[in-house]
Amino acid sequence: MSDRERHEWWQTAVVYQIYPRSFRDTTGNGVGDLRGVIEEMDYLSDTLGVDAFWLSPFYPSPMADFGYDVSDYRDVHPLFGDLSTFDRLVARAHEAGLKVIIDFVPNHTSDQHPWFIESRSSREDPRRDWYVWRDPKPDGSPPNNWLSVFGGSAWELDDRTGQCYLHSFLKEQPELDWRNPAVRAALKEVMRFWLDRQVDGFRIDTVLFLMKDPAERDNPPNVGGPRHLHKPLGAYDAQVHEHDQGHPDVHQVFREVRAVLKEYEPPRMASGEMHVFDWTEWGSYYGADLDELNMPTNFGLLEAPWTAMGVRRVVDGVEAAVPPGAWPNYVLGSHDDPRLATRLGEHGSRQAAVLLLTLRGSPTLYYGDELGMREAEIPPERRQDPWSLTEPELGRDGCRTPMQWSPDPGAGFTLADEPWLPVGGDHAARNVRSQLRDPDSHLNLYRRLLALRRGSAALRTGSYQPLDDVPPDCFAFERSRGAERVLVAVNFSPEPLSVDVPGFAGRVAVSTHRKSEGCELEGALRLLPHEAVVVL
Ligand code: NOJ
Repeated sequence: MSDRERHEWWQTAVVYQIYPRSFRDTTGNGVGDLRGVIEEMDYLSDTLGVDAFWLSPFYPSPMADFGYDVSDYRDVHPLFGDLSTFDRLVARAHEAGLKVIIDFVPNHTSDQHPWFIESRSSREDPRRDWYVWRDPKPDGSPPNNWLSVFGGSAWELDDRTGQCYLHSFLKEQPELDWRNPAVRAALKEVMRFWLDRQVDGFRIDTVLFLMKDPAERDNPPNVGGPRHLHKPLGAYDAQVHEHDQGHPDVHQVFREVRAVLKEYEPPRMASGEMHVFDWTEWGSYYGADLDELNMPTNFGLLEAPWTAMGVRRVVDGVEAAVPPGAWPNYVLGSHDDPRLATRLGEHGSRQAAVLLLTLRGSPTLYYGDELGMREAEIPPERRQDPWSLTEPELGRDGCRTPMQWSPDPGAGFTLADEPWLPVGGDHAARNVRSQLRDPDSHLNLYRRLLALRRGSAALRTGSYQPLDDVPPDCFAFERSRGAERVLVAVNFSPEPLSVDVPGFAGRVAVSTHRKSEGCELEGALRLLPHEAVVVL
């Protein structure tokens, strides 16, 4: 039996995240669109060689949070195309052997969604309890101390009815009440709408927010608690988010979501966006009977100190927590985080490419990271992200700039004079066309890794075994399946290293330093400074 038969598609697939606004503009208005994705399908399936893509939201939306404020769950924003463009996109992807994952944003709608317009119209409206409305405290202050991720209170007083509604994000993103069975039923129908259109899965946005403490207790302060490694603390980090997300009732929601997916053949999947770094808790979201999320997203490597021990600690934690029969996954970049190559630098981002595509688990690759695109400097007058208004140092525009296809002025993304966000300053060097010609480029490193992975059952589905007897600056592990053994080793130091691998003989198949490729080794491996290798 081949590994493809024994593993579900999402366990062997490399997923590529597309932020549609920034991928490819075919209309010349400076904003990417679905036709752009259709036109670049060969890039995904052949040039790069991924297996699936995840589309960030493309729904009708006032774009207060660039599509994460949905005003119609069952349509396509005219900026991106229409439902028939979407159907063509799915058909074309399937022809090319690619799976399509779409973003599902069930925690909140736009304040322009008809449900919320009705809900806010009066206290008696039948949809009033579709959202979370509460009286302010007698002194007029918010019902509790919960905060919006983007700054300020999570409660907005609505003068018309004198009550506050909850919004864990912008005030333009009112929270649906998932404890209301009618809300659950409506959102499940939305899932079916897209499953009927043949999407292969969902990335579910902010999935832990769906269930909160029913008593709505105040959150405790974050004293000496969680910190981010790669970005400053925001006002939101002043609390431990004990009561405003992740209530255990969320497990039942996940079981219901999974049950909807199980109505469909061929198998469909859901990954859930969560930033949980307690691996036992994280592992629990697969479900005690593996009947919850197919994959709770794992941002561990984004928060790991980029050292041999820092990375190994995350991987071993994840490995220990993944329930038997479930499958890990790794993320190294997203539309919410500073660019990988800026966080880790040139060497680090090449090492990250090797790790992402060789660790045991499904990788998600953020568009442009395969080029080593850097975080772009956005002049204040061109900033778009609403977060950059409240907390400029946390603004996410720098990682959302246009995909860099060519060295041309619009980076091959657009013919417009001014794309919605400026083209990154590094596009003359970091673009698809130029990097395809350079064998040492980031893009060609990714292509070699993806091709290797495709041909290796051990890399796709083999076991993971860390090597203990290695120098402190080295993280090394073996992936094996049947007789196939693959050794991966990363040197995190600026010095060369020697690693003993008794009983292992092979040839360097891919290295961050191409000149090492093809070298034979037996029993010991020499690593150049900062080098990461895959040996077969
Ligand atoms: C998580 C998304 O990834 C982010 O971009 C968005 O702002 C929030 N959820 C709110 O939907």
